[in-house]
Amino acid sequence: MNQLTSADLVQAFTEELRLCNLRTDEHVVVLAEPSSRDDYVAAAFAAAKACGAHVLVATVPGGNPDPVPSTHTGGGPGLTSVLRDTVAQDLLKQADLVLDLTREGFIHAPIQDEILATGTRILFVCDAPDVLVRNMPVADDKDRVLSGQRLVQESTSMHVTSAAGTDLRVDLTNVRCDFQVGFSDDPGRWDHWPSTMVLCWPEISDGQIVLAPGDIILPFKEYIRDTVTLEITGGHIEKVSGGADAHMIETYFGDSDDKWARYLSHMGWGLMRSADWFAQAMYAKHEVMGMEARAFAGNFLWSTGPHPVLHRDSYAHLDIAMRDCTVTLDETTVVAAGTLIEP
Ligand SMILES: [Fe+2]
Repeated sequence: MNQLTSADLVQAFTEELRLCNLRTDEHVVVLAEPSSRDDYVAAAFAAAKACGAHVLVATVPGGNPDPVPSTHTGGGPGLTSVLRDTVAQDLLKQADLVLDLTREGFIHAPIQDEILATGTRILFVCDAPDVLVRNMPVADDKDRVLSGQRLVQESTSMHVTSAAGTDLRVDLTNVRCDFQVGFSDDPGRWDHWPSTMVLCWPEISDGQIVLAPGDIILPFKEYIRDTVTLEITGGHIEKVSGGADAHMIETYFGDSDDKWARYLSHMGWGLMRSADWFAQAMYAKHEVMGMEARAFAGNFLWSTGPHPVLHRDSYAHLDIAMRDCTVTLDETTVVAAGTLIEP
């Protein structure tokens, strides 16, 4: 990293802040920890200044309560230093926009909901510079994800199938649905740059999920090599069968010693047409969180562990991105054999 990398990023960060609807009278807090990327902190600071907003950088001690290695996992446990410091929390609550440049973010830390409830909007950023630039969102993406979210809200069930053998029925009654669009423009909104996806938090799913070679398992950031079959009843993974990958998943569930590890969490589909499925093979693991896998247009993304709607606090969070699935909500197919269908 040299002094020019931050200058190179100012334009992209400025574009992002404009998508976040940053106004000149607003206050931006750039939240960092000692291992945050210096070039991102500098670029965020410069971009906020370029937009004419108030800006300050808050660097807090690193370290989080999640027992797994902090390698941009997507676990989002929050920083212990912030979780224990009401002054830091108050600063974030008073900000109009927080640019969260910490390693893991706060997505699964209850304090984040408290901060958002004050109207603060938060944008989390951690992937490699060219991943950010290549997947820069545009304003119209919001209509796309909102349309998907509306469809989930209006549907009673989701059916996911694949030629590999996936056949999962998901009850969408009273389900909470959400989206990620890569910028945070509404008060109280959290988002992640880059991302474009529709997701929901169901309680009941039944059937089986069959992972095929080439699917991606996160946070391990690995491609599945052997077919894995997961049998699911009432949202609980009853059985995992297959070869080495099945053994790894089963061992992860066991080692986590977490009662929610074998339960399904959020699920949905990706709409990020710029995402590259092979990005995960091209970067070192510490350079990316894996958003190109998670938001890949036409994927089926599902996960395990934490479930805020059902008040399941858990650090045992797998995100699994699958290709070649068909995802149908009631009578409407949104992904056909891995191809995103949009009106
Ligand atoms: Fe997740």
